[in-house]
Amino acid sequence: TPDIHDIGGAPIIIGAGLAGLMTAIHMAPQPVVLLSRAPLGTEASSTLAQGGLAASLGEDDASELHLADTLAAGDGYCDELMARRVIEAAPRAIENLIRLGVAFDRSTDGKLRLGLEAAHSRRRIVHAAGDGTGRELFRTLLAAVRRTRSITILEGMTALRLIVAEGSIVGLLAILPGGAFALPTRRVVLATGGIGGLFSDTTNPLASFGHGLALAACAGAELADLEFVQFHPTALDSPRRPMPLVSEAVRGEGAVLVDEHGQRFLADTPGAELASRDVVARAISCQLTAGHRVYLDARQCLGPKFAKRFPTIDAACRQAGIDPAVEPIPVRPAAHYHMGGVAVDAEGRSSVSGLWACGEVACTGLHGANRLASNSLTEAVATAAWVAASVGGTCAGWQWPRLPAIVPVRPDPSPMRQIVSNALGIIRNGKGLRQAVTALLPIAVGETAAADPALVAMLIAIAALRREESRGSHYRSDFPGRDAAAVPSRLTLCTAFENA
Ligand code: SIN
Repeated sequence: TPDIHDIGGAPIIIGAGLAGLMTAIHMAPQPVVLLSRAPLGTEASSTLAQGGLAASLGEDDASELHLADTLAAGDGYCDELMARRVIEAAPRAIENLIRLGVAFDRSTDGKLRLGLEAAHSRRRIVHAAGDGTGRELFRTLLAAVRRTRSITILEGMTALRLIVAEGSIVGLLAILPGGAFALPTRRVVLATGGIGGLFSDTTNPLASFGHGLALAACAGAELADLEFVQFHPTALDSPRRPMPLVSEAVRGEGAVLVDEHGQRFLADTPGAELASRDVVARAISCQLTAGHRVYLDARQCLGPKFAKRFPTIDAACRQAGIDPAVEPIPVRPAAHYHMGGVAVDAEGRSSVSGLWACGEVACTGLHGANRLASNSLTEAVATAAWVAASVGGTCAGWQWPRLPAIVPVRPDPSPMRQIVSNALGIIRNGKGLRQAVTALLPIAVGETAAADPALVAMLIAIAALRREESRGSHYRSDFPGRDAAAVPSRLTLCTAFENA
């Protein structure tokens, strides 16, 4: 444990997933504190990433094509300038990772192997260890962080509240097992990941309840597009939680979705199994609701080659008693990624002075209403450089006053899961959303471990209730059409209750 009295004025990054690690690395040699509530690498969604990072690196590819695919998947809702900026930075971001030592998969001639995923018009997914991209990224980046002397890692420390005075960050209230501390700082970067842990079926670590959204909301920051939650179409249908992902790259290799009779149900849909994620997830959800079972069949396209190309998925299937080389894989959709988040500008600045956000917790506008596969790791890596440059140097006058003992409560999203899964799943309606808001409000204002998860869930439900149309990942059975006049949604803790 470092002597926290020696840290002296550094900005604080909350969260040590891909976005947090990359921001800390980019800030070197300026001192920075990396705060992680769990041991590094154990609670970050990005460690579980399979597919990889999207970048237009193929000879038949161009950033304009990557941009066009991103905008189409985003369903008319991306911030085109931001999307262009991230996509044009992607090849350089991959080079930077290679320089840091990430061993991406290559063919025998040394060229990067590029995978194909849904709604991409070209092969452009850079991956590592077959389907172990997140693991390989972490192995390399953790080593880089640990050897960077300017980064102070505080593991086991949980941020409780941001302290704001006159619209600016002035500190952070945090707890260690040993006690509570007020950490004066004028610069905080939220890199806390997503919200999948609010749902019963998720591919995210179960502790991912939107911690950064709760911190930002209570600090008065503006939040954007909260209603857009992406469901990955193909999680392995087993009792394991988080649910093991069956990467879209398996469909990219030609696997097909079938019902219990072996019947393909997406063959006539434009794009078929490689239609955008929202389309495929809804189609699977309809099959399941109608009482069918859904399987991903990779026997024809991969068969005995499955284990070599997808070792992580192969191991998860075998653990569930399935051999994907000779059996179809049972799948169902699961909450996977939050397009919404803390509203930020191109440098990751939120509406609260001194507060930045990076990675899944941020809403940059890149993903619109539905994220294009493998654009999230790309976004985290590209934007971390801009956030780090914007956060800049240290601040003087650092002190660490110890607070009177407070009873630390580790937030627990589990009591939320039934309410959230019922109301905020793939198909929503006004009645269910109103019921959810009514049920969540008293929990959100209470003093239990469920309060912050309930607050985040309630804000998402309010945003979903306000969007009276269907677009991208947000589907309302009572408003199934698109509203051409619908505008991007923004709310704060105060404005959430206007017109409620
Ligand atoms: C996948 O491998 O299917 C997930 C990739 C992503 O979520 O972008």
